[in-house]
Amino acid sequence: MTQWRQPADAAFPSVRKRTQPAFLVIAFVLLFAAACSRPHGPPANYATLEPADARLAQLYDSTCKGCHANPASGAPIVHDHDQWDTRFEKGMSVLTAHAITGFGAMPAGGQCTACKLPDYRALILFMADREVEK
Ligand code: HEC
Repeated sequence: MTQWRQPADAAFPSVRKRTQPAFLVIAFVLLFAAACSRPHGPPANYATLEPADARLAQLYDSTCKGCHANPASGAPIVHDHDQWDTRFEKGMSVLTAHAITGFGAMPAGGQCTACKLPDYRALILFMADREVEK
């Protein structure tokens, strides 16, 4: 009677050993498919994206957006991971410094006279489509 209660893998340990690598392979294939399914380039709605916070949205609309939602400007487009991910790897202290002092064609301060340091951090997180600073 007790034999019926045994789980299948306890009764057939060899089956369990053989099936585990197969599950790992399937998991990797699914992960790979998920990573590849992220669309490339800016999202279709990049022109209407805004920070959720009203003050940030106002700052973004009147400054960063002019370039960061304008492909002709050469600025990395809002929520475009192809353009933001490598920049994000530099870390938040480098990115905020570049936003404040300027970087290449990026004007110092990003034309935002009302922006304070926390605003720059939040705007960069928003544009890079990240929740946590690196
Ligand atoms: C006049 C256009 C313009 C405005 C306005 C602007 N940017 Fe930029 N920004 C750029 C361009 C162009 C680049 C790409 C610079 C390069 O890589 O040479 C850039 C790049 C950046 C980068 C990446 C820097 C790096 O190290 O890779 C950050 C961060 C950034 N901008 C933040 C902001 C923020 C925050 C605002 C608004 C407060 C803003 N920008 C407003 C044009 C602009």
